[in-house]
Amino acid sequence: MKIIKSTVLLFALIAISCKSPKTSETRLKKSERQLAGLRALALKEKKIPRSINKKGENIWTRQPYDWTEGFWPGTCWMQYERTGDAKWKEAAIAAQNLYIHHKDLTNDHDLGFIFNNSFGKAYRMTGEEKYKQVLIDAANSLITRFNKNVGCIQSWDVIDNWQSKRGWKFPVIVDNLMNLEILFEVSEITGENIYRKIAVTHADTTMKNHFRADGSSYHVLDYDPETGAVSSKVTAQGHADESAWSRGQAWGLYAYTMCYRYTKDKKYLDLAEKIANFILNHPNYPEDGVPYWDFNAPDIPDEPRDASSGAIIASAFLELSNYTDGKYLKHAVHILDSLASSAYTAEPGENGHFVLMHNVGSIPHGNEIDVPINYADYYYIEALCRLKEKGL
Ligand code: GLY
Repeated sequence: MKIIKSTVLLFALIAISCKSPKTSETRLKKSERQLAGLRALALKEKKIPRSINKKGENIWTRQPYDWTEGFWPGTCWMQYERTGDAKWKEAAIAAQNLYIHHKDLTNDHDLGFIFNNSFGKAYRMTGEEKYKQVLIDAANSLITRFNKNVGCIQSWDVIDNWQSKRGWKFPVIVDNLMNLEILFEVSEITGENIYRKIAVTHADTTMKNHFRADGSSYHVLDYDPETGAVSSKVTAQGHADESAWSRGQAWGLYAYTMCYRYTKDKKYLDLAEKIANFILNHPNYPEDGVPYWDFNAPDIPDEPRDASSGAIIASAFLELSNYTDGKYLKHAVHILDSLASSAYTAEPGENGHFVLMHNVGSIPHGNEIDVPINYADYYYIEALCRLKEKGL
């Protein structure tokens, strides 16, 4: 049986590589040429690129902090790893130094996104101790948000803000799963179990409460911080409380695949595959594999696509393939073929020097609709690097 499976996989790989030999490197080179323009702008402005405005001008990460600030230096680190070109390393360091002090923030859950994707890469690539300490500090800040009664890290603070207007007490968003990676990493590099224990508890609580029977997930769960009971299951960035916001599905898929990487606990792999099946078999999953911004958006097919969801899903499928005899490889390749086409990849010098067009930040908030976004490029580059590792 194993021989048959391996033979099938071998033929699938040959078929894919015959179709587009060394596709990933060609696309990475093209992306690198485009992003070199963004690098020049970022260094000149001493800022971190986020997107473009309605006039097509570049806009930068928000003050006083921004959940997306780690993606640009992370993209630069990936380009440095691929090319060995010191210009990328310098750009990565310049960008991440702009927010190094955010490691001590305890009012935000996105420290995993921000620090693991940048300083985490810096540490893994250079082995320099100073980067390791930043990761540990960020993880220590993140775990202050863990509540034992709930079994989760709180996502957003409820102060005098839109979250408080919704009456929430302890909101946890599905995206928060992505912040667990820094905790698994810091457990491995320090040998301290506490970070891993919190990551596993958060992953288990979210698995129990956030997911529906069909494998889709809610965006926001509000908990009672005293009893740990779920108070409401709603959305902030999706079309409706009961809909499946595409990037939320992508985060869940990516994160449970990552949880399996660190724990080898099969229940995480099973959930990742369940989410994959939800995505792939959904009647509104488009032919080209790049989701509409919400699987239940009311005016499909006249709804914006979200290329960032496509890029996250492609990258997750490539890792999931490693644990499933290559089962999701062809789906990843299909999405990446679409993203690399002129339908989603910008012409050189256009799109504010970002690679991908047609991303959606948040439609309910009227933010960043049909624009380039730094995290879309990050996961696109990551997916291409993962494909390249497979020799494709
Ligand atoms: N965590 C925010 C987003 O995915 O938009």
